[in-house]
Amino acid sequence: MNRLNAAIVGGGAIHVCHADALRQVPGARLQALAEIDSGTGQALAQAYGCRFYQDYHALLRDDEIDVVHICTPHHLHKEMVIGALAAGKHVFCEKPVAMNRLEAAEIAAAAARAPGLLAVCYQNRLNPTSRQIRCELAGGTLGKMLGMKAVLTWSRGGGYYTRSPWRGRYATEGGSLLINQAIHTLDLMQWFAGGVTRVKGVVDSGELAAVTEAEDSAMATLHFRNGARGLFYASNSYTTDAPLLLEIHCEAGMLQLRDNQLWRCCAGGRTHLISDPSPDDDAKAYWGAGHLAAIRQFYQTLHHPTVPADYTAVDEAQKSLAIVEAIYHSSQTRQWITVNP
Ligand SMILES: NC(=O)c1ccc[n+]([C@@H]2O[C@H](COP(=O)([O-])OP(=O)(O)OC[C@H]3O[C@@H](n4cnc5c(N)ncnc54)[C@H](O)[C@@H]3O)[C@@H](O)[C@H]2O)c1
Repeated sequence: MNRLNAAIVGGGAIHVCHADALRQVPGARLQALAEIDSGTGQALAQAYGCRFYQDYHALLRDDEIDVVHICTPHHLHKEMVIGALAAGKHVFCEKPVAMNRLEAAEIAAAAARAPGLLAVCYQNRLNPTSRQIRCELAGGTLGKMLGMKAVLTWSRGGGYYTRSPWRGRYATEGGSLLINQAIHTLDLMQWFAGGVTRVKGVVDSGELAAVTEAEDSAMATLHFRNGARGLFYASNSYTTDAPLLLEIHCEAGMLQLRDNQLWRCCAGGRTHLISDPSPDDDAKAYWGAGHLAAIRQFYQTLHHPTVPADYTAVDEAQKSLAIVEAIYHSSQTRQWITVNP
């Protein structure tokens, strides 16, 4: 297997999950890091034994780099992804792929023209519980899906926003809770149900109004393509990071995800199906343990291009972004919004 040389752009909180994964993925090696803060970047590059660039454009000109991991604030994703693809690199971009659907469409067009592949990091799709939910639904023993509800209540204090001032602002984050944290949950909901056709929702800010310009809480009703109805509530202003609570109500029973454990509940009783592993020490529990699996999956495709690709491509990443945008729009207009990814 030829080695693929990787580079990370952005040495902040999430880059640790990428650096850790690159140590473990066969046929991958972290070769360079770009970070606009030269003190942070130099220290990290020294710790990883890799090259340092303060200007990511110079990293893109480095012919030895095959794959670029984008771990920067949302407003930089579009120019960085398109630049990396134009430089002939493969790209693994943190979610959201962009700040809105318009930007994502430009990225998708660039990806369609480029020789390199573009993956977007929706690592929760790789959770054992997520995979099992898809199997249970595809197996059909629970019958038709009638409804789904998700409750995501996390805790983000003022320091989270002041440490990285791009967070919580429309110009740099594109929103807040929905586009950053809850987009994972919306992605899973739409993935389990096979897409969303329309939404009605509201966003608001309570506890975090003094530190963020955008919302800290949101709720929505979703109509899924399969005819089922979804209820969604999320907030960043809870007092702890509670695990996602998700329930899928089907004709013959329910699937329940609570405390990272998946249960099937039907007339015969409640059966434990599978649990998600805890992440490594360096990763926050609420990120889950999926980065390694998602990055391994992408490199497998890069190493074996003839095997059917299995990673979250930009067309998939656009779906949750479209739902996020529709909820923002609905909150402003108080109307149902049709979702067109
Ligand atoms: N998949 C997940 O569960 C998950 C979790 C956390 C964050 N994220 C995503 O990761 C991305 C980064 O988030 P974070 O929490 O690590 O942010 P952060 O603020 O901690 O880190 C961002 C880093 O990018 C650097 N940077 C800014 N401009 C740069 C430039 N022009 N060139 C090089 N470096 C630059 C900053 O100096 C900072 O070190 C976001 O897209 C976020 O949504 C994903």
